[in-house]
Amino acid sequence: MDRIRIRGGNRLSGTLPISGAKNAALPLMAAALLTDKTLTLSNLPYLADITSMSNLLLPLGVSVSVNGNGSARAGRVIELTAARIADTTAPYDLVRKMRASILVLGPLVARCGEAQVSLPGGCAIGTRPVDLHLKGLEHLGAEIELDSGYVRAKAPKGLRGGQVVFPFVSVGATENLLMAACLAKGESQLVNAAREPEIVDLARCLVAMGAKIDGIGTDKLTVQGVDRLGAASHRIVPDRIETGTYAVAAAITGGDIELVDTEIGLIEALGEILDAGGISVTATGRGVRVSCPNGRVRGVDVMTEPFPGFPTDLQAQIMALMATADGAAMITETIFENRFMHVPELMRMGANINVHGASAMVRGAKQLKGAPVMATDLRASVSLVLAGLAAEGETIVNRVYHLDRGYERLEEKLAACGADVERLKSG
Ligand code: EPZ
Repeated sequence: MDRIRIRGGNRLSGTLPISGAKNAALPLMAAALLTDKTLTLSNLPYLADITSMSNLLLPLGVSVSVNGNGSARAGRVIELTAARIADTTAPYDLVRKMRASILVLGPLVARCGEAQVSLPGGCAIGTRPVDLHLKGLEHLGAEIELDSGYVRAKAPKGLRGGQVVFPFVSVGATENLLMAACLAKGESQLVNAAREPEIVDLARCLVAMGAKIDGIGTDKLTVQGVDRLGAASHRIVPDRIETGTYAVAAAITGGDIELVDTEIGLIEALGEILDAGGISVTATGRGVRVSCPNGRVRGVDVMTEPFPGFPTDLQAQIMALMATADGAAMITETIFENRFMHVPELMRMGANINVHGASAMVRGAKQLKGAPVMATDLRASVSLVLAGLAAEGETIVNRVYHLDRGYERLEEKLAACGADVERLKSG
């Protein structure tokens, strides 16, 4: 297995391009199942999860063609055509690799009146049930059965509009229901819907395909079902979590980086925290500049919340930063019940962190020290890379396949800004 070696201490500076958002691309690819015409998505990131989604869609009858090499600034273009659905089953072997596979459920049942999707299991960050997806589909008239580890959904006469009130905010359930409602008969309302930028992006693409959606960007989405959706071309929104991760890379090294092909509005909650910590975050014509006029960051408390609050997907990264801060920070995770796996690894690098339930008290250490580390999920892994950039000596991050799921050319992008980082190929 590949590893990443970081020799810490370099101050990062320069320009760093941000890719299209993984968590927008995955539902957008699933949306191709809603139409027999071609959906063209540009600014596609080059990531293992994108390959997993393609591998899931191919046997369902979707033809997939990818152009471009994903070189810096260009992104890639993918064309997806589901002229005829060949199969309505998403099997365990593919679903277990990526939980976002559940996003084919809504589109398949909406278009074909049936779908069988393996239930995703728990994962490193929590139990992550899909009950909201299933209850929501029932409100749109689907009959749902759980059988031998599979969700079997049926709507022989098609889905019908209905009101779905989410008891709490779920990104995936909002996406699944939004896609399904586009082809349901009549009006649907999604209340207490997620309003992450990835949902807005999906809704805009669906509208380009012919869907009728009101309330985009709010927590109440109203959808008038249509008989069919058509072809569309859509540019995937920049990755706000990648943007935030590299903003933290600038902050943790006392650096000065311009993140390009992204937007400051995507990282407002992070911007507020960095600003309170003395880090400057400003919009430039082509992205965001992050610099450290005051040297070391000051400790600031952080609580994760659904958008527009501070994203759980940046919690591990901000913890790495606060581990190097002047003063203390209380970091509270409210979205997932088990998302502190990076804590013991950061502590092996000299971080001073005490976890009490859903909160972690982080007291800034004068100097982190390099160490061999590993993590069990994508964002935890990248927090260790960030800590390694600030640490004295050498850090080896194992299990790089986690990083490859969500960060395109991570080591190349960081090295171009002056980091001493390289991938050590296995065997
Ligand atoms: C999306 O996951 C993202 N994944 C996650 O990013 C992100 O952490 C998460 O949203 C929260 O922002 C993709 O977009 C592919 P949820 P999702 O449904 O949709 C509970 C990353 O690192 N819940 O908003 O699965 C759930 O257990 C990943 O890129 C139920 O109880 O998240 C969690 O506690 C990791 N029942 C909370 O809701 C349900 O039916 C929010 O989950 C659905 C969710």
